[in-house]
Amino acid sequence: MNAASPVTPYDMIGGDEAVVAIVGYFYDLVEKEPDYAALRALHAADLGPVRHSLERFLTGWLGGPRDWFERGTCIMSMHRAFPITPAIATQWSDAMGRAITAYRTATPALDADLAERMAEKMGHMAQGMINLAAAKAEAPAA
Ligand code: HEM
Repeated sequence: MNAASPVTPYDMIGGDEAVVAIVGYFYDLVEKEPDYAALRALHAADLGPVRHSLERFLTGWLGGPRDWFERGTCIMSMHRAFPITPAIATQWSDAMGRAITAYRTATPALDADLAERMAEKMGHMAQGMINLAAAKAEAPAA
């Protein structure tokens, strides 16, 4: 290791193989788990393209190759188009937490603290994507 090649979270979790595995677990859960039906329903019928996009996003976000970010898309602005309620944001964080746990179970060498921080930060992002109009519609009438 030297200043020109710092060890990134991407390296620490196991690079491309790890990202592909986590995104695989995540969308498999979203696809099959009835508790995530509302989250699934917001997505296109074919999850192939979003699986690939999430892999590329997470790769750059974790400090790996930044091709997704070079497109100039803002992840938060892009999600404003979707009616994301607090319940749906929780479904997303819950599924991602489970996907990271599944990966860690299969890969015990993965640093527990790093896995926890990844799940926590992505959970915060999901909370930040809540669409206030959708949240209001979901809340019971006062
Ligand atoms: C808060 C709950 C969330 C919901 C309901 C949601 C929903 C969606 C939907 C509907 C799409 C379009 C894809 C399709 O139609 O199949 C999408 C794309 C995407 N989402 Fe989310 N998302 C959420 C949270 C997140 C978070 C927290 C991240 C990042 C950590 C993320 C990363 C992405 C990426 C990378 C794409 C593809 C964008 C592109 O490359 O054009 N999403 N999301």
